[in-house]
Amino acid sequence: MKRATVLVARAVFPEVLARLSQHFEVEANPDDTIFGKPALAARLAGKAGAFTTGSERIDAEVLDANPQLRVVANMAVGYNNFDVAACTARGVLATNTPDVLTETTADFGFALMMAAARRMAESEHFLRRGEWTKWSYDMFTGSDVHGATLGILGMGRIGQALARRGALGFGMKVIYHNRSRLAPEQEAPIGARYVDKAALLREADHLVLVLPYSAASHHAIGAAELALMKPTATLTNVARGGIVDDAALAVALRERRIAAAALDVFEGEPKVHPDLLTVPNIVLTPHIASATVATRRRMADLAADNLITALTGGRPPTPINPEVLREGRLAEKTPRA
Ligand code: DGY
Repeated sequence: MKRATVLVARAVFPEVLARLSQHFEVEANPDDTIFGKPALAARLAGKAGAFTTGSERIDAEVLDANPQLRVVANMAVGYNNFDVAACTARGVLATNTPDVLTETTADFGFALMMAAARRMAESEHFLRRGEWTKWSYDMFTGSDVHGATLGILGMGRIGQALARRGALGFGMKVIYHNRSRLAPEQEAPIGARYVDKAALLREADHLVLVLPYSAASHHAIGAAELALMKPTATLTNVARGGIVDDAALAVALRERRIAAAALDVFEGEPKVHPDLLTVPNIVLTPHIASATVATRRRMADLAADNLITALTGGRPPTPINPEVLREGRLAEKTPRA
């Protein structure tokens, strides 16, 4: 039987490429070019599957240009780069990489939150500028993390992992807001209290965002929400750009309406709103919350598992739209040998 051809849309571990090559004809992207929509649609010509990252937008236009496409496997837990409804309507299976990055991302979210609370980036910049001439009682005084109230917006797997760190490691009180409330047996071990969004904003000493991006969560934190927060509070975003109104955040930080922020994700990244680059009380990192060698490898392996199993008639481990499998529509698209 002729081997299927797949596109690996970005550079990835050579071992993962080698594994995919055992099953498919692979078109790789060793230069790691980011394909805009027309280039991506053109590259997908003749491909049965695609190994993507958050930088590739798979929407109706790209899918309609490639009716032979059967599987899109994202190397990310977030999949706001996919139009899932458009995939499902066309019998295209979409997959993501949940679970394997939960603890690593929660580690980083916690580190960012601590860095904002204790003014680590701001004080390091001061030191590097050669401005440190003496110790003083109020130099870079921040706010405590231990014993403080941790607010979590979006209480999925990563939110719960952050809550465990806060409650069990740092004696924090945990409050959260989410589309659905956790079961009592999930809330109890971390003492998590479900509150409405306004209460979350008002009560949190340190607010961490871990909700998925969608039209509904666009600018979930804007000027009005920031105005509800304590002037001593910090805001950390390890979820997606666009959940925070970055321009409004820069104003709130400059005017000290909140104490500090830490962002790993940005609206329109890799561009960063210029005002965020000039406010001092912020920690900025380039979308690296899941970036440990082991976790990135687990993510790549899981995306490859999804692509291989889906295209060879197996059961992909982490489908986003499993109804495509249940309804047998992927099989319908599969060319006969
Ligand atoms: C994810 O997995 O969604 C991370 O943000 C990496 O893109």
